[in-house]
Amino acid sequence: MNIEVRYYSKSGNTKKIADAIAKQAGISAKPIHEPMQGKVDILFLGTGLYAFDIDPELKKYILTLNPANIKKVVVFSTAAIVKSAYEKTKKYLQDQGLTVSDAEYHCPGHYMILRTGRPNSDDIKKAEQFAKSIINSL
Ligand SMILES: Cc1cc2nc3c(=O)[nH]c(=O)nc-3n(C[C@H](O)[C@H](O)[C@H](O)COP(=O)(O)O)c2cc1C
Repeated sequence: MNIEVRYYSKSGNTKKIADAIAKQAGISAKPIHEPMQGKVDILFLGTGLYAFDIDPELKKYILTLNPANIKKVVVFSTAAIVKSAYEKTKKYLQDQGLTVSDAEYHCPGHYMILRTGRPNSDDIKKAEQFAKSIINSL
């Protein structure tokens, strides 16, 4: 079983969640520019939300993903205000022909005076539980 974790993170919030997920899979989370080897069973893909959308760099990255090499994408996200970046991210992934899991993980992420201290230890614990449930279902 080949699991990969990639993230787009401007200020490190989403990276914290990516690291927690990767730890459960016994691998390292990597930023999106790091290439993936061979066929991937699950790609955990994480992002923050910026100006009500995902960053143009992540959109460009999604266009490089080959659906023939990736069985399923599991989205995780952080944001200061919105409830999740899942729907936005899912749309770009599906437009690229990728299969996106219905399961997603989201938690608040610190931005300016909002959501101070998030993700916190509880957010990390929940991300670990989420990753475990996905991995155990394979
Ligand atoms: C330029 C910018 C724009 C943002 N726009 C939004 C937004 O539209 N909605 C929202 O909920 N959060 C917004 N945020 C907050 C981020 O989504 C939040 O801080 C997230 O945790 C950032 O993740 P990162 O540290 O992994 O980049 C914005 C943050 C930045 C830096």
